[in-house]
Amino acid sequence: MPDPPPARRHAEAQRVMDRCARLATHTEAPGRITRRYLTPPVAAVHEDLTRWMRDAGMRVRVDAAGNLVGRLGPDHPAVPVLLTGSHIDTVPNGGRYDGVLGVLVGIAAAEALSRVDLPFALDVVAFSEEEGVRYAKPYLGSAAVAGRFDPAWLDRTDEQGVTLRDAVTRFGLDPAAIPAAAYDPQHVLGFIETHVEQGPVLEQAGRPVGVVNAIAGQSRLLLRFVGEAGHAGTSPMVPRRDAMVSAAHLIAEVQEYGRSIAGLRATVGYVQAYPNVRNVIPGMVEVSLDVRHAMDDVRDAAVAALLDHATRIASEDGVAVEVMENQPQPATEMDSGLSGLLSQAMADAGHRPFDLLSGAGHDAVAVAAAFPVAMLFVRHPGGLSHHPNERVDLADVAVAVDVLTRAVRLFAGRVRGEDTLLPTLPVDLPMPGAVPGAGVGATPA
Ligand code: HGY
Ligand code: MN
Ligand code: MN
Repeated sequence: MPDPPPARRHAEAQRVMDRCARLATHTEAPGRITRRYLTPPVAAVHEDLTRWMRDAGMRVRVDAAGNLVGRLGPDHPAVPVLLTGSHIDTVPNGGRYDGVLGVLVGIAAAEALSRVDLPFALDVVAFSEEEGVRYAKPYLGSAAVAGRFDPAWLDRTDEQGVTLRDAVTRFGLDPAAIPAAAYDPQHVLGFIETHVEQGPVLEQAGRPVGVVNAIAGQSRLLLRFVGEAGHAGTSPMVPRRDAMVSAAHLIAEVQEYGRSIAGLRATVGYVQAYPNVRNVIPGMVEVSLDVRHAMDDVRDAAVAALLDHATRIASEDGVAVEVMENQPQPATEMDSGLSGLLSQAMADAGHRPFDLLSGAGHDAVAVAAAFPVAMLFVRHPGGLSHHPNERVDLADVAVAVDVLTRAVRLFAGRVRGEDTLLPTLPVDLPMPGAVPGAGVGATPA
């Protein structure tokens, strides 16, 4: 593939960056980026993406789960299709690149390929819900695309008591049609997701992009401590059955335990006290538990150990503890063929291939249940994510557009059977200091 003129790649990358800035203005909370599943700002994002996709020569549709899909190529249901893209929802006060960068790099690649006769359709998917903020259920959109949407999720309620079913209906979609969002596995060639790394490894290794070799497994739990509410002023300090104190004991132990196991990540990000007023001893407190590791057996052992800690703390404090939710997600392997294409495309673009582990979850986790997946990471200066200071550099975005575009063209050659000459690539060993468990142990605790 002839090397694209650097000026063109620079212009494409600049437009991706400008569009990330534009989408960041579509938020539930002015002055910060908060965009939860099917909230009003999502409609504004859909409007911009539709215009940009149509300008790139794509047809656009929205499925019943709220995923927006731009297609380059024939619209026939039986045509083979390669998927790319990422999510457009955010965490509260999140960054402007987490998710949307992958959608916009996908559109840029589609535009660069719009005059290439591909032997498959290329779909750029803007998944509607990856973070799992509004309904405490991640990957709603990508699960629908993979044919794994569970209708029971429709009864989940958000903080205002709005069911997922009503959120879909209020957005103008039909919950009963969500099963139709699933692609037919016999036509999907795979999914390549581009995403900001959200960690320090590529920056430490001095690489603009890298190929993900696996996504760490994660367990998402919700625990409930049940003590006894009481008057803050008249109840003696002893005996109290203060659920908040038990939660605090557990939170401290989660940090200590997380620091004791190499590569483990253990986090309490959500605490909800009841009745949550200043002059009442909390009778009940719910805490989340997010546990991640590259090896599933290490993660499972960590969850078991932390639940034992919770049980011991409850017994010592004279309160009860219940596990309200436990959503284990095993580690996700990447497809070696698609990943090899990304590495080949990196080499063709003049960058020595480099692979790394993802500590963060991605839509590729849900899509991998049905189709082959691969991921391209973009260097993240500072590695600070789920935070407004999230960053990427223009030059690295230009490399990402170039590598994704080359990978699709290489894939087209493979689908046509033209690529017998593709050599197998010496994939780089991680650089010293860049622990392979990137994002999970990359910076030993
Ligand atoms: O939590 C995660 O790993 C992802 O950012 N949703
Ligand atoms: Mn995220
Ligand atoms: Mn993300």
